[in-house]
Amino acid sequence: MILYRENIGKIAELIDSHTKTFVLTDENSNRLCLGVLREAGLDIERFVKIVIPAGEQHKNLKTVEYIWSQLVENKADRKSLLINLGGGMLTDIGGFAASCYQRGIDFINVPTTLLAMIDAAVGGKTGIDFQGLKNQIGLFSQPLAVLILEDFLATLPKRELQSGLAEIIKYGFIVDKSFLEASLTENAANPIDSVFVRKAIEAKDVITRSDANEQGLRKILNFGHTVGHALETYLIGRGGDIRHGEAVALGMIPALYLSEKYCHLDHKWTLYYKSLYAKNFNRFDLSGIAAEDLLEIMRHDKKNEGGDIRFVLIEDLGKPVYDVVVDLKYILDSVNYLIEYQKNENC
Ligand SMILES: NC(=O)c1ccc[n+]([C@@H]2O[C@H](COP(=O)([O-])OP(=O)(O)OC[C@H]3O[C@@H](n4cnc5c(N)ncnc54)[C@H](O)[C@@H]3O)[C@@H](O)[C@H]2O)c1
Repeated sequence: MILYRENIGKIAELIDSHTKTFVLTDENSNRLCLGVLREAGLDIERFVKIVIPAGEQHKNLKTVEYIWSQLVENKADRKSLLINLGGGMLTDIGGFAASCYQRGIDFINVPTTLLAMIDAAVGGKTGIDFQGLKNQIGLFSQPLAVLILEDFLATLPKRELQSGLAEIIKYGFIVDKSFLEASLTENAANPIDSVFVRKAIEAKDVITRSDANEQGLRKILNFGHTVGHALETYLIGRGGDIRHGEAVALGMIPALYLSEKYCHLDHKWTLYYKSLYAKNFNRFDLSGIAAEDLLEIMRHDKKNEGGDIRFVLIEDLGKPVYDVVVDLKYILDSVNYLIEYQKNENC
């Protein structure tokens, strides 16, 4: 159930139907976002607060253990509620912690980054990273509700907005080309037009409700993610600095390259995306990365079956195909194409 500011009364009702309410924040959402919840009309003083460190490097078992220990210490029972107030890292780990605690307590996601609003907080994927692999441990578990308050975007740093924008552009390739217009602002640091935010949330909600456990259609949401996740895993594992959406923005370049090879996508869309990329996203120095290293990480991708590496590709805008088994040689070519592109923006 997606709720907006005008539905805050419904959230208050859901809270009242539980014995105790916990709010999970990271150090940034604690500082910047709790007050917004109060302004929206929620009695946050009644909540038991659990604060975890910010950043993907903390999306791990140690942090989950801390959350569970706080729930135990503060006597959370089966009718308790956990409100996850933060970005995608926090909604992922909070949803996971809640879903395992006493075999599952209710949780509400209140996403505070653009990426979490339009993607991570919606659809019921929860989890943590494990042994250097992204989202390796987790489960599908639906939040009781997702509360969207676009006010949170006001404090979001430019890179976090860019990161969310990447996922909105992704919807332009897999759902409806009008999403590509979301990036046509003069300056990507401007908060994104709320029309696109709501449209993207609806798209994610409709797709994930039709295929909650990712048996089919939902896989299209992974466009750009096969190489994107590998890059994210590789760089974060080496102490690098990359946002999830930035990795997806990069990962869409090899996905388009392979779409040309396997699905006859018109080359003009790769050129078009490169111009969008140059306008909206940062360049990364990937020259130290060997394509084979990313391939090794892709072998662990959860979309693989029977040892094959599977991609989501597109035949045209809004025409995705999933489970495309791609030859290892072409995967390497597509990664090298990306590395070359990041080296030289004219290629
Ligand atoms: N479950 C899913 O379907 C799904 C989908 C996409 C991504 N994800 C996951 O989401 C995570 C990435 O999410 P993210 O990009 O939101 O990152 P994040 O949660 O790490 O947040 C990014 C940074 O912004 C800060 N922040 C949060 N809200 C803020 C605000 N309003 N103002 C200022 N700063 C704020 C956070 O403290 C953090 O430092 C990854 O772990 C990824 O795997 C999950």
